[in-house]
Amino acid sequence: MAKISLLAYINLGVCLVTRFSRIGFILAAAGSAIGLGNIWKFPYMTGQNGGGAFVIVFLLSILVIGVSVFLAETAMGRASEQNPVSTFETLAPKAGGIWKHAGFMMVSGVMILSFYAVVIGWLIHYIFLSFAGLPVSVGEAQGVFGELVSQSIYTQLFFHLLVIGYCGHILIKGVKKGIERINLILMPLLFLIFAGLLFYAMSMDSFMRSVAFMFMPDWGKITPEVVMMSVGQSFFTLSLGVGTIMTYAASLPKKGNFVSSALYVAFLDTLLAIIAGLVIFTFLFEFGSDPSGGPGLVFISLPVVFAQMGLVGQVVSLLFFIALLFAGITSAISMAEPLLSYLIERHGWKRSKAVWVVMSGIYVMGVLVVFGGSEAYGESMKIAGKSLFDWLDFGSSTLLMPIAGIVICLFVGFALDKNYVHGMFGGYMSPLFFKVWLFCVRFVAPTLIAVILIEGLRG
Ligand code: TRP
Repeated sequence: MAKISLLAYINLGVCLVTRFSRIGFILAAAGSAIGLGNIWKFPYMTGQNGGGAFVIVFLLSILVIGVSVFLAETAMGRASEQNPVSTFETLAPKAGGIWKHAGFMMVSGVMILSFYAVVIGWLIHYIFLSFAGLPVSVGEAQGVFGELVSQSIYTQLFFHLLVIGYCGHILIKGVKKGIERINLILMPLLFLIFAGLLFYAMSMDSFMRSVAFMFMPDWGKITPEVVMMSVGQSFFTLSLGVGTIMTYAASLPKKGNFVSSALYVAFLDTLLAIIAGLVIFTFLFEFGSDPSGGPGLVFISLPVVFAQMGLVGQVVSLLFFIALLFAGITSAISMAEPLLSYLIERHGWKRSKAVWVVMSGIYVMGVLVVFGGSEAYGESMKIAGKSLFDWLDFGSSTLLMPIAGIVICLFVGFALDKNYVHGMFGGYMSPLFFKVWLFCVRFVAPTLIAVILIEGLRG
């Protein structure tokens, strides 16, 4: 009893100080969702998978799977007002049972961050390149990028330190003064930059070709593989299956329509992916570049296009990489927060200690990622033929995130009492919306996520 009231007291204290405002939550969750996944991964996947066919299936998976799981995570976090481990424990009927361990899925957040922060470091290098001179041919661009990732170990480590240090600096200030404030600044700037880039793209002849490429599906190109990739991407882009959304939702304002907040987040996330795609494809088409360049799209094809635009290109390049940097930073801080909130709430750590320990650990992992990607050490550091970068990506995106997604669906869909779940939404869902949502969470989402999990494991 004493323990419970003490917990309640601590909880109250935490809540009074650290709740998001409504707009703060929307922008922070959108900040987490909008990241390299929208501006880098979505366009290159669209380019590789036949444009419109991929976009259509992606939009459907956002609606059916992304939004359903997003609402489930939000409702859980809001109901428990605690970190993911405590959330599963306190919400589960019969004192936890097997669900007790489900919250540990938050380790995938720090796994992603270990390589994500290295990639954000590359962006800083490209910001400098925008001043110093961009590569003018694809061959040169490949050389520049190749040299950065395989030879410039210390450049990468330095930028990586800047990224981790800055994220730590934000995280130490807590939910309200750190996370909310940085998102209130960076997210509007990000949208402003992309609005500017969109207007610039609209002035180009190739804009309509870009629209057609993204929205006129060639139905024949919808293959099982395209479906799987879009389901995976809808999950990744909304930051699901890591406990991030759950953790942010734990600091939702006490009152207010969080269902509509969640829908705004999904909308903004999708909107930014579409705008990024339109802008990037217009630029590529305008200069006769190929959209199917894969992961090299942003680091190899685009810089060459920027170089061809002359002086304007330097400005566009600068703005583009700065926007990408902002998007990356706001996602990065959200990956660490679930583990931080767990250490603070459950182990009584001070926030500063939690941030120092966790971010130092992530920095060390990043150092290993950088060495593992280098020409000099890469080969000898491979484990079973894969680099650490690939293992971390595999362990998080292919393995843990889908498993956590299925667990969340089954927990909310079956383990919890249906009336309780209905109550969690506090009347913010119409009866029909609730029925459709519950059906998706119980059957559609877990089945499709299970398919991508199995297919991912088969490689
Ligand atoms: N949604 C982010 C993006 O699109 C990446 C991401 C995946 C993420 N999982 C996450 C961010 C978990 C925060 C937490 O780039």
